[in-house]
Amino acid sequence: MMVEVESKEALIIEGQRKLEGVLKVSGAKNSALPKIVATILTDKEVILENVPDLLDVKTMHLLLEDIGAKVTNIDKNVFSYSLSNPKSLQANYDLVSRMRASILVLGPMVSRFGYGEVALPGGCLIGARPVDLHLKALESMGAKIKIEHGYIKAYAPKGLRGAHIFFDKITVTGTENIVMAAVLAKGRTVIENAALEPEIVDLCKMLKKMGADIEGEGTHRIVINGVDSLKGTNHRVIPDRIEAGTFAVLSALTEGNIVIENYPSEYLEYVDEVLEKIGIYLVKVGENRVTVKRDKVLRPVNIQTREYPLFPTDLQAQFMTLLCFVEGVSEVTENIFENRFMHVPELNRLGANIEIVGRTAIVRPVSKFSGADVRATDLRASAAMVIAGLVAEGETKIHNIYHLDRGYEHIDHKLMGIGAKVRRETVED
Ligand code: EPZ
Repeated sequence: MMVEVESKEALIIEGQRKLEGVLKVSGAKNSALPKIVATILTDKEVILENVPDLLDVKTMHLLLEDIGAKVTNIDKNVFSYSLSNPKSLQANYDLVSRMRASILVLGPMVSRFGYGEVALPGGCLIGARPVDLHLKALESMGAKIKIEHGYIKAYAPKGLRGAHIFFDKITVTGTENIVMAAVLAKGRTVIENAALEPEIVDLCKMLKKMGADIEGEGTHRIVINGVDSLKGTNHRVIPDRIEAGTFAVLSALTEGNIVIENYPSEYLEYVDEVLEKIGIYLVKVGENRVTVKRDKVLRPVNIQTREYPLFPTDLQAQFMTLLCFVEGVSEVTENIFENRFMHVPELNRLGANIEIVGRTAIVRPVSKFSGADVRATDLRASAAMVIAGLVAEGETKIHNIYHLDRGYEHIDHKLMGIGAKVRRETVED
């Protein structure tokens, strides 16, 4: 299964069309990726359902196949995984450079096989993205870590042992990496200052179905007692709360008549509160089905991105687009990543009036956007560009939409399904 290389594709959007219909939220990228990795912790078959059809998922499948796993697509969005004997214990640079989440294989590989090698993930546009906390935690579990020629090599020939781990910063994949390393370690591991994300809670649910002994997931203190081996299971990827939040913003801004299916309200309580403060209301119209109502005049808010359950950094760009069209000045402060405002100059090209002061963007209201050529910079900023293109006058061409395909399943088809006029075009950048 070859992963498309970074294509020079653009998405052309004709703005201000009447949108109506159903937007279906897919399985969450950030839930699928750790779960796919968790399948290497056992030699038994694991079946995952609701796996989203994303570039990052294809990349993670390639990575698992490189290690020696058998990955089989057995139905729409359903995959079977099994890894009895590894043929390699290396996640190579080519794959890791496309997807930083590859670091997630390090803990499970070294825990089950006594060795793991992952190319040092480079930074990405939103920040340096160090993995020092992952490595420090694995070392405290007895792994010997060497970094040479751009590869992290982790040795634990006698396996890992449980440890009391204190994360200096809350790290999502760091927590996932260590939970997966600890389920097969000898003895008890306590993770302090663990991340609380729903994707972590559901990963632990899957691991417990496989026989892992875990408690405290969803709190800042997770306790894992290692077991000798894990069995197979059948599990479902949870809906993507970030895609759902993106659709809520899109529906409000386009004043469309849209129903959002698989809306995971339980993961978006804080976000829904912020929407209400702005004057946007999610009205339940069925089981996990919502429609979006809004006040005529929307109100400004100040947003601080924080760890879950507060405002997610992955929705910051999309909300910034929304705040361009409220009656008053808003402030958006990015506290998680050091460089996650690349969408600001792109939005300003469309007619936004946003000024960056340190880690805060001051968003002043404008009456309209006018379509232009813009560039997608990171996965979630690309979604902000799509929303902007849907409300702008005229045509917007979003270049380098590789990022969009990494995290939003068939976004152009979903938008066409509600009446948007979007098409892909290969462009010579
Ligand atoms: C996860 O990234 C998500 N990715 C990100 O989503 C999300 O933005 C991020 O969590 C924050 O919610 C996946 O789940 C695959 P962190 P992660 O470790 O785990 C610093 C998307 O668009 N840090 O929680 O890499 C780090 O620099 C992506 O889907 C260290 O200093 O984020 C950051 O400032 C983008 N050392 C902060 O912690 C470390 O060893 C939080 O990062 C690890 C992290």
